[in-house]
Amino acid sequence: MTPHRPEDTGLPTGLPAARPAAMPEEAWIEVLSAVDRTYADLVDYQEQLERQNARLQDMQAFLTSILASVSDVLIVLDRAGRIEQVSASLLARSGARAQALTGQDVARLVPPEDAARLAEVLDRLRADRRPAVLELALATPDGPEPLELSVAPRLDDRGRVAGFVLTGRPLGELRRAYAELTESHDALKSAQSLLVRNEKLASLGRLLAGVAHELNNPISFVYANAHALDRYVGKFETYFARVQDGASREDLVTLREQLRLDREITNLRQATQGARDGAERVRDIVEDLRRLSSDGAGERVSFDLAETARVAAHWVLRGAKEAPALTIDGPGTVQAWGRPGHIQQIVMNLVQNAVDAVEGRKGGAVTLTLAAEAGRARLTVSDNGPGVPAEVRASIFDPFFTTKSVGRGTGLGLSISLKIAEEHGGHLTLQDRPGSGAAFLLDLPAQGISG
Ligand SMILES: Nc1ncnc2c1ncn2[C@@H]1O[C@H](COP(=O)(O)OP(=O)(O)O)[C@@H](O)[C@H]1O
Ligand SMILES: [Mg+2]
Repeated sequence: MTPHRPEDTGLPTGLPAARPAAMPEEAWIEVLSAVDRTYADLVDYQEQLERQNARLQDMQAFLTSILASVSDVLIVLDRAGRIEQVSASLLARSGARAQALTGQDVARLVPPEDAARLAEVLDRLRADRRPAVLELALATPDGPEPLELSVAPRLDDRGRVAGFVLTGRPLGELRRAYAELTESHDALKSAQSLLVRNEKLASLGRLLAGVAHELNNPISFVYANAHALDRYVGKFETYFARVQDGASREDLVTLREQLRLDREITNLRQATQGARDGAERVRDIVEDLRRLSSDGAGERVSFDLAETARVAAHWVLRGAKEAPALTIDGPGTVQAWGRPGHIQQIVMNLVQNAVDAVEGRKGGAVTLTLAAEAGRARLTVSDNGPGVPAEVRASIFDPFFTTKSVGRGTGLGLSISLKIAEEHGGHLTLQDRPGSGAAFLLDLPAQGISG
């Protein structure tokens, strides 16, 4: 736009309407410079207007792009409830054209029964200005589409209600999103229980390594003794065959010495005793295992934490490549309340971690310290390994946090143990022992809440 000459504007210049011929030269100069000033002012004004206009256009483009791209339905109303602007998403849904909607009452977007409710909400908002949420249907060519609609007042610069902004999301979409959320929540839950089961299987694996090791001894003992018994039987068979054949007394005495039967009779006793000892050891081991597994899910009962800790620690150490020295301090019996099978899993996790921590160190030692104090049963599992570095202290109870290599650590042991302890109304904490290995304290109620 080019500015008009000031002569064409018809603007008052403030000059006297005198005839030029009668004016002195100075007056002319004054007139001309006034014209110049006015002209310059006008140019300024014009430039300012153009800048403002460009800004307005930017703003408009910005708003238009928002209206075009929001996926939620957006409707801007004036104070009377007439449509000022709508988003492209609304146009797409309602099948209407923007021009056809502008200036119309918002009621025409919804079925009549919803129109009344919407009008009520707008009325209330004019008074109390408090945003509201309501469910209503949007009339579309395919029939009503349920929306969750938020209605907020639009205030002018003096804080008066100038209109309303309505935003809505199709409920179908919300419901679908909710269903998806539920589904992924379920998937997460089942993944979690799978992980817990895997961790259980891993500790079962460690347990079995210990069992195999433990059974090996008495079984080979039984086997060796059975083998010896076989040999003795052979000798006695030879002897009795000669008796049957009617051998002379002297012959028999000689044979008896040759076969060293007198000594073998004592050995025979020892062999049967040995075989029985071995078999009893096997029976004890099986008994132990049965106790370990049968308490798995079970009822909450009063049980001996010291005994559970001893059995669990024993089996973990049996499964260890190089078993550290185990010391057990404190009273031989400590009453606790809960599910012994679950508590045993905590002890196995703690002892396994202690064993891992001292692995490859000379003089590795694991200590269990038991204590019964003021209605609580306490067990501390400590080791003389490197301890837990300060920078990971906060993370070790997190699921999947592990500093061990793949296949050695799942990072679930402590998080599961903590969960079990808390389910029992107890605590599991890392004790502060700067510079001297790690110590974990398991604290459990000594008695059930009911007594
Ligand atoms: N006795 C311990 N000494 C040093 N660090 C430990 C000890 N116990 C646990 N940690 C640390 O806590 C981490 C998490 O332990 P845990 O949850 O049992 O998982 P995982 O043993 O599978 O790594 C371990 O990787 C280790 O870094
Ligand atoms: Mg572990």
